Amino acid sequence: MVDKAEEAPAGQVVIGPAGWRDLNALRVLEKVCFPKDAWPLLDLVGVLTLPNVVRLKAEAGGEMIGFVAGDVRQSAGLAWIATIGVLPEHRRHGVGRALLRACEERLEVPWVRLCVRASNQEAIQLYLNEGYHKTETWARYYQDGEDAIVMEKAL
Ligand SMILES: CC(C)(COP(=O)(O)OP(=O)(O)OC[C@H]1O[C@@H](n2cnc3c(N)ncnc32)[C@H](O)[C@@H]1OP(=O)(O)O)[C@@H](O)C(=O)NCCC(=O)NCCS
Repeated sequence: MVDKAEEAPAGQVVIGPAGWRDLNALRVLEKVCFPKDAWPLLDLVGVLTLPNVVRLKAEAGGEMIGFVAGDVRQSAGLAWIATIGVLPEHRRHGVGRALLRACEERLEVPWVRLCVRASNQEAIQLYLNEGYHKTETWARYYQDGEDAIVMEKAL
């Protein structure tokens, strides 16, 4: 895994900054990764353009295969991982972990938090492995009534 496109050998996954030109690819990725919770278009535009957001994409062969965004709240000394997703056919190859680590490195705050569906064992396992711990449960946080688990990590 490298994080400079110009250094990437063919076929390698590259992690780099995302921007508004990635909107269409991000729409597709969101729908595939979050069939129940895909963000509306306005939120996707926001995550690609607003200040105080660390946004990174993973690309393979020039196509976006993963995305992460960290919402930085400098005054609170805290950032939230707003979204992270990897296309199903590229999962279990370390892309999600690499995106999460690359995002954390750029957050420049002492704490990072996220919330995750209580049933999302893949993601929860990733976060536990990366040093997050569970702090609280938000009952019926998601539209379909599922609880959210809040997780936190010191950076
Ligand atoms: C969660 C997600 C981003 C992980 O991406 P990924 O590229 O498959 O993750 P990685 O290959 O980097 O896996 C890193 C670690 O996470 C854990 N993990 C990932 N997928 C797992 C699975 N299906 N079962 C168990 N553990 C899993 C493992 O500990 C894994 O390490 P290992 O492969 O060395 O055992 C991906 O499954 C995804 O996009 N899911 C749908 C969107 C989503 O739920 N996002 C999180 C919202 S909070």
